[in-house]
Amino acid sequence: MNAPVTDLVDVPGDEPAPLLELVDVRASYGPIEVLHGVNLALQPGSVVALLGPNGGGKTTTLRVCSGVLPVEHGELRVAGRVVNGVDAAALARLGVCTIPEGRGIFPNLTVRENLWVATGTGVSLKDLEAVAYERFPILGKRRGQLAGSMSGGEQQMLALSRALGTDPTVLLLDELSMGLAPRIVTEMYDIVGRLVDDGLSILVAEQFARAVLPIATSAALMLQGRVVRVGDPADIEHELSTSYLGG
Ligand SMILES: Nc1ncnc2c1ncn2[C@@H]1O[C@H](COP(=O)(O)OP(=O)(O)O)[C@@H](O)[C@H]1O
Ligand SMILES: [Mg+2]
Repeated sequence: MNAPVTDLVDVPGDEPAPLLELVDVRASYGPIEVLHGVNLALQPGSVVALLGPNGGGKTTTLRVCSGVLPVEHGELRVAGRVVNGVDAAALARLGVCTIPEGRGIFPNLTVRENLWVATGTGVSLKDLEAVAYERFPILGKRRGQLAGSMSGGEQQMLALSRALGTDPTVLLLDELSMGLAPRIVTEMYDIVGRLVDDGLSILVAEQFARAVLPIATSAALMLQGRVVRVGDPADIEHELSTSYLGG
């Protein structure tokens, strides 16, 4: 009762709005519709694993969430506010931060220069470096090294550092496991899991469900441009491995 109501909120009930929400979202590449009415919600303090086979629309969903692909129908909401048409830079200022598929780092720049790129959001290089090297001491040792010459795990650490430098509230992660050895994947997801303790909420797309299960609070199964089921991560993973990935 008596909770402040903002004029843009459009969520039924008394529940606080999810940090990030897609409501019946459709999106296309040119004339080809790829998302056919996606519904998904990310609650504060949670890790939602977006699972499903290749081509299901996971990356496209994250592109919509980060503002690089427009919503053609339905609504993208951040903390209850409709943000359809808001561009990626503005969404980043609202606290939605992305690590794209392939990590989005510059291989021909050094670690330090890659961090410098993130100063565009208003954080100083000094602060970015301090946070990055404290979290990942190996990056401190490699600060003058070209990012492309580092291991996949180190590059992912750099991508994470750059993303976290902007102090986001929502982190969008696409295929963290890509190109990494299984042991490194486990390590990276350990690190990601600890970010939730620092107050972050995370939407992570993964084709290889098992990697993300230990840290996921819920899972959404995405098939052919729709979220067809949301539930307990282990149940969804079981369904995935028996029904869609052939065992
Ligand atoms: N840039 C693009 N142009 C046209 N079609 C695309 C593009 N990227 C992805 N698609 C298509 O959109 C569908 C969903 O792809 P994507 O979102 O990458 O799925 P996932 O990440 O789950 O593998 C696929 O059919 C894919 O071929
Ligand atoms: Mg993908």
